Amino acid sequence: MARILSTMSLSAGLISMSVFTLVLQLNAQPGFINIDCGANAPNHDTSINMTWTTDSEYTTAGINAVDESETAFFYIPAHTQNTIRKFPGPRNKSCYMLPVVRNKTYLVRAGFIPQNPPPEFDIFIEATRIKTVDSFNGDVVEVVLKATRDDMYVCLVRTDPSDVPYISSLELRPLDPGMYALVEKGYYLLRMDRKNFGADKLSIVRYPDDPFDRIWLGENAPGTTINTTQPVAPGSASNKPPMAVMMSAKLLRGSQYPPWLANVDYYVVLYFAEIDARMNSTSRRFDVSLDSKPWVVDFSILLASGSSGLFTTLQVEKTYAAIAQVTNLTFNPCVDSTGLPMLNAYESYQIFEEVQGRTFLPDAMAIENIKQQYNLSDWSGDPCFPYPYNWLACTLDSSGPRISTLNLASMNLSGPIATSIANLTAVTTIWMSNNLLSGPIPDLSQMKSLSHLGLQHNSLTGEIPQWLVDLPMLQELFLQDNHLEGSVPKFGNKQLIMNISGNDILCEGYHSCEEISDRTSAYRKSHVLSIVVETLGCLLVLMAIYVIYRLSRNRCNRHMESGKKMDKQHSFQNHTQVFSLRELRVASKNFSKKIGEGGFGPVYYGKLADGQEVAIKVSNGISKQGQSEFFTEVDLLSRIHHKNLVSLIGYCQEKDNQTLIYEYFPNGSLRDHLYGPSATTPLSWNTRVHIALDAAQGLEYLHLACRPNIIHRDVKSSNILLTDRMEAKVSDFGLSKLALQAEGVSHISTLVKGTAGYLDPEYYISQKLTVKSDVYSFGVVLLELVCGRPPISMSLSNPNKKLSITEVVRPHLQAGNLQEIVDPDLRSDFSLESMWKVIEIAMTSVEPKENHRPNMQEVVQELREAAAIEQQRSAKVGLRSDGRQSNASEVTARGDAFTDTSQESMGSRYSLPSPR
Ligand SMILES: *[C@@H]1O[C@H](CO)[C@@H](O)[C@H](O)[C@H]1NC(C)=O
Ligand SMILES: *[C@@H]1O[C@H](CO)[C@@H](O)[C@H](O)[C@H]1NC(C)=O
Ligand SMILES: *[C@@H]1O[C@H](CO)[C@@H](O)[C@H](O)[C@H]1NC(C)=O
Ligand SMILES: *[C@@H]1O[C@H](CO)[C@@H](O)[C@H](O)[C@H]1NC(C)=O
Ligand SMILES: *[C@@H]1O[C@H](CO)[C@@H](O)[C@H](O)[C@H]1NC(C)=O
Ligand SMILES: *[C@@H]1O[C@H](CO)[C@@H](O)[C@H](O)[C@H]1NC(C)=O
Ligand SMILES: *[C@@H]1O[C@H](CO)[C@@H](O)[C@H](O)[C@H]1NC(C)=O
Repeated sequence: MARILSTMSLSAGLISMSVFTLVLQLNAQPGFINIDCGANAPNHDTSINMTWTTDSEYTTAGINAVDESETAFFYIPAHTQNTIRKFPGPRNKSCYMLPVVRNKTYLVRAGFIPQNPPPEFDIFIEATRIKTVDSFNGDVVEVVLKATRDDMYVCLVRTDPSDVPYISSLELRPLDPGMYALVEKGYYLLRMDRKNFGADKLSIVRYPDDPFDRIWLGENAPGTTINTTQPVAPGSASNKPPMAVMMSAKLLRGSQYPPWLANVDYYVVLYFAEIDARMNSTSRRFDVSLDSKPWVVDFSILLASGSSGLFTTLQVEKTYAAIAQVTNLTFNPCVDSTGLPMLNAYESYQIFEEVQGRTFLPDAMAIENIKQQYNLSDWSGDPCFPYPYNWLACTLDSSGPRISTLNLASMNLSGPIATSIANLTAVTTIWMSNNLLSGPIPDLSQMKSLSHLGLQHNSLTGEIPQWLVDLPMLQELFLQDNHLEGSVPKFGNKQLIMNISGNDILCEGYHSCEEISDRTSAYRKSHVLSIVVETLGCLLVLMAIYVIYRLSRNRCNRHMESGKKMDKQHSFQNHTQVFSLRELRVASKNFSKKIGEGGFGPVYYGKLADGQEVAIKVSNGISKQGQSEFFTEVDLLSRIHHKNLVSLIGYCQEKDNQTLIYEYFPNGSLRDHLYGPSATTPLSWNTRVHIALDAAQGLEYLHLACRPNIIHRDVKSSNILLTDRMEAKVSDFGLSKLALQAEGVSHISTLVKGTAGYLDPEYYISQKLTVKSDVYSFGVVLLELVCGRPPISMSLSNPNKKLSITEVVRPHLQAGNLQEIVDPDLRSDFSLESMWKVIEIAMTSVEPKENHRPNMQEVVQELREAAAIEQQRSAKVGLRSDGRQSNASEVTARGDAFTDTSQESMGSRYSLPSPR
């Protein structure tokens, strides 16, 4: 079928090519865009009298391909089916950009002919995910929305890195103002159904019968068809259904079952026109109900559409949250009605209420400009959604997504620095180092949030601009290895980390330059003299630095920061000690016993002179650039004391080494005890709940009691350490932040940090870190405790697919199938109520939307109850009442919790959170 179609349309295409320009002028439908994706030349469709163009004007992504599937798909114009556009990468997101008029309503229609094997990918309109494309059955995705910009994105986003998204056709249709008025509120409408009742099942009404080119399919519901030849007036129907559709209707009785999804909001429209001239206002009256709830009652089309009732269109609409997979739409005549209920046409749309706004317009325009200037056009669509371009990071603020980081380091850029960067006023960090950039540093003085500017290793010329002094947030400035010249602005007492070495005339040894430039201005008249003085001054200062360096060499607590001596201000509160590198070498036997590796760096075992065992965490190559952050952070960490948090004992900052010294716990981490190689004795449920409670209290303290609040960022079972009494202590808080700052300085960083399996999906998308990201990760830890399995595991059915613990657990929970989930090592020896409670907390904690998750305080509260319940039970069945020393052999045989309460009745207490 497809083969015949394609040869036919191929020859049609050849003919139409020659008359293309003529045709284009003839049938130019204002604002219609018809893209025959993958086509090599424009072509004309005589059946609907429209011309189809190639992709070239609308996307630079992807390649043309011939469609190899054998199926035809009647919803998509036949002649566009022989080619498709494929998007093999490397980008995960490929977009079309359609020109639109701001504030106008549009219908976008994307066609996907069935493929085998079917690739997996999502379609996004603007920055909002619409759905996963059904590439197996073929799909036509139609969305009605209001344009908010002068262009509109239609993007295909792969969900499996090995798949190749594709598209067959793409159409854009402007609608009249007032049509589908819900879009005025900013909602998007995704078409579910659009049916022409009374028409033959295979009939299609579209352009030119429908001037907006909606596609109305015939409907084969049982019932009598009625039709008329008399024109039907548009009436007050704001959606303007075409007359061709309204001239036929079906006499219905009983139920229709539109296949909607449960818990989804729908916009439902019924179109009526009385086309039987024998009817009067009382003779045809009926009720319509949705899922057995009355919608219209004692309804007379003629009465409702006014005196001119006959042959006039009437629109009846409703928004409705479907309660079941299949909705029951019922038509019943009133008892004294002589006519049967009738329906001319019907539409239903899924309502997208949570539309993701596009990136703040001035930011987006600047990024567009940067892409053009540096030829980065294969990054397409919204810069921030669904995830930022690799070289950007974004934040959300009241004006929408904003660009916060621009990381164009080592991307082979040449030419001047794009002046449009200055329009990115929310950017805090710019890295453009290691490129071939030339010319002066442009005026970035309006970038009031800028804290890190790295332009090192380029060929920049001109002076170091004076406005840098006035940037209120500036913390780090790297300009080394350029051809900058002239004097250096005076930064005064500002805490600034700066490197301007390796420039043409600027003085080396940068901290001295301030003083030098003072003198330079005093001796302006005599260049020779000033150069002499400059050189001398440099020498003097270099000597001074050397002397200080020698002095500080073996003492950690004296160090240089921004060229100034750090005085007593870093002798931290409490008993945080300062260690020398030499002491640590001795304690760790020259770092011989490595006990772990964290985000911060390797961890070594050590024993201090007084016999205390410690864990020594050595930063992996944080350069001195991260110094001020290091001290801020150590200062903060040294003030935190809580029984469920691992305490910082001391630190060492010497040469380029930054080291933190922590309490050591020989008993290892929770992970080791759950399923690590040393997990020999299974932990009892009582122990597990108490460990969970301990850890939760530690996190609660970080979130609530600390000022500023501390987000852990890397909550996981291997960061929960156990004492010999099986009490839990959370470790490694604050370290991800340190690692993050350090990395940002030295090389490209994607700002999202965390461990796979524990990472909050919302944080991953928005890059906006909140305490709820920790709650998510903690929810995963709870699931590990319940299941006794790692957060990510191989799928049994497909060894190449990795499954997250939530994916494993959810379907079993929905089926109420607890035994499939719970760690078999627990041997049913637990209180079912306590278990359900923990599962419930875990599942709400891993809700995709952060505002659906509990806070840590609520988690602690629930865990406390779960622990109390289990404590009671285990005391009853004869466990030692302290319960913490788990010992499986002590468990008595009667610990069968399933006898107390039937699993079913407990299962029903658990209701899965709604998917929205
Ligand atoms: C095609 O459309 C053009 C302009 O809208 C019109 O002039 C022409 O008559 C149409 N042709 C057919 C066959 O309908
Ligand atoms: C595409 O997405 C995958 C994960 O789905 C990721 O590993 C990869 O880095 C992404 N590629 C690009 C170019 O963004
Ligand atoms: C679009 O609509 C908004 C709000 O309704 C209005 O503020 C804006 O001026 C309109 N823009 C154009 C170009 O009509
Ligand atoms: C109208 O209905 C009559 C009989 O019900 C049928 O014969 C005729 O083909 C229909 N006309 C159209 C245009 O559907
Ligand atoms: C409507 O038509 C019915 C017969 O079909 C008739 O009995 C009734 O009186 C009419 N009602 C009015 C208001 O004309
Ligand atoms: C549909 O609703 C009608 C009444 O509104 C009811 O009589 C019928 O049983 C319902 N059908 C189903 C399958 O629920
Ligand atoms: C940057 O902002 C200025 C002033 O608002 C504007 O005139 C200019 O067009 C913007 N440039 C870009 C590339 O967005």
